[in-house]
Amino acid sequence: TIVHVILTGGVGSRLWPLSRKSQPKQYLGLFEGQSLFEKTVVRNQDMADSVIVVGSVDNSHLSQATMEKLGVSYTNIVEATPRNTAAAIAFAALASAPEAVLVVTPSDHIIEGEAAYELALKDAVAKAQHGAIVTFGVVPTKPETGYGYIEADGDRVVSFREKPNEVTAKDFISRGAFLWNSGMFCFKAGVFLEELQKYQPEVFEKSKIVWENNQNGQLDFALSKEIPSISVDYAVMERSKKIKVVPAAFQWSDLGSFESVYDYLVAKGHEVDANGNMVIGCDTYTSFLGLQNTIFVHTPTANLILQKERSQDVKDIYNALEKVQ
Ligand code: GDD
Ligand code: MG
Repeated sequence: TIVHVILTGGVGSRLWPLSRKSQPKQYLGLFEGQSLFEKTVVRNQDMADSVIVVGSVDNSHLSQATMEKLGVSYTNIVEATPRNTAAAIAFAALASAPEAVLVVTPSDHIIEGEAAYELALKDAVAKAQHGAIVTFGVVPTKPETGYGYIEADGDRVVSFREKPNEVTAKDFISRGAFLWNSGMFCFKAGVFLEELQKYQPEVFEKSKIVWENNQNGQLDFALSKEIPSISVDYAVMERSKKIKVVPAAFQWSDLGSFESVYDYLVAKGHEVDANGNMVIGCDTYTSFLGLQNTIFVHTPTANLILQKERSQDVKDIYNALEKVQ
C-alpha cells in the first residue's frame, strides 16, 4: 500500500504577515481559489491508497474543512505542540504498517507539470520498495541557504547537507553535481523508523511513547514536549546510508520566503518596477524612490517592508512578535 503523508505543522513564519498562526500560508486561497494544502491533496489522490495528515491543534480544523470539501477520508494526527519534522514523520510511520510505502510531502509547495511529477513518484516508490529512503532533487538556480543540498552521482547520494551557509552554498553551486532537496520523501515506514532509531534514538523512543498514548490521533502535550525538536533533514537525511535521489523534472517552488514568492510572481508576470521593487497584497498605486529590490507586503492588519535579500530573516520578526503576545 502507498500512504500519502501530508506535513502541515508549520506556520510559514518567513511569510509573515501573509502567513499567520491562525491562517498559515498553506490554507490561504491564493491560487485560483484553491489553497496549497488542497492542491497537495488533489495532486496525490490517484497515487495513494490512503492519506495521513500530521498537523497542529491550531490548524486541524482547516485541514478538516478542506478534506470534507474534497470528500477525502484520512487519518488525522494532531500534534499538541510542534516537535519538527523528524517526530511528525515518525508518528505517521508508527501509524502505518512497516511495509507500507509513505510518500511524505509538505503542504505548502507549488508543483507544476503533473505528468513529470507522477513519473518521479513512480520511480521513487519503486526504489522505496527496495528499501531506499528517497529524496527528490531539484536543479538549483542560486546559492539559496534555506534548502538542503544533495550531492548526487546518478541516483546515489554522496552527501546530504542541510541549510549550508552562503559560502558553502556558493561552493556547492560552482561545483555542479549538487541538487536542492525538495522536501518530499518516500520510504517504507519500517525502514524510516529503523534509521531514526539508529541515528536519533531519543526522538524515536519518545515519539513512540507519544504515539502509543494517542487518543484518536490527538497527541499528549506534556509527553510531546519531551521529544527533541529536530528536522528530518538533520536527523536522518544527513546521516543515513540508504538515501537515493530521484530527479524532480517538474516545476517546483516552496514559496518558503518572500524571495521565492517574488521569483514565482515574476515568472507569472506580476509587476516589478525598473529597480526590482514589488508590491504584494494590494492594488494601490505605489512608488518606490531610491529603493532597490524592496518588497512591500500589505495585509489589513500589518505591513512589512523588506529588502529581498533579507527574506530569510522575516522569521525573526515573527518570533519577536510571538514573544510579546
Ligand atoms: N506536522 C508537522 N509538525 N509539520 C511540520 C512541523 C512540525 O513540527 N515542522 C514543519 N512542518 C511541516 C511544514 O509545514 C512544511 O510543510 C514541512 O513540514 C517542512 O518544514 P519547513 O519548516 O518548511 O522546512 P524547511 O523549508 O525549512 O526545509 C525543508 O524543506 C526544504 C524545501 O522546501 C528541508 O527538507 C530542506 O532540506 C528543503 O530544501
Ligand atoms: Mg519550507
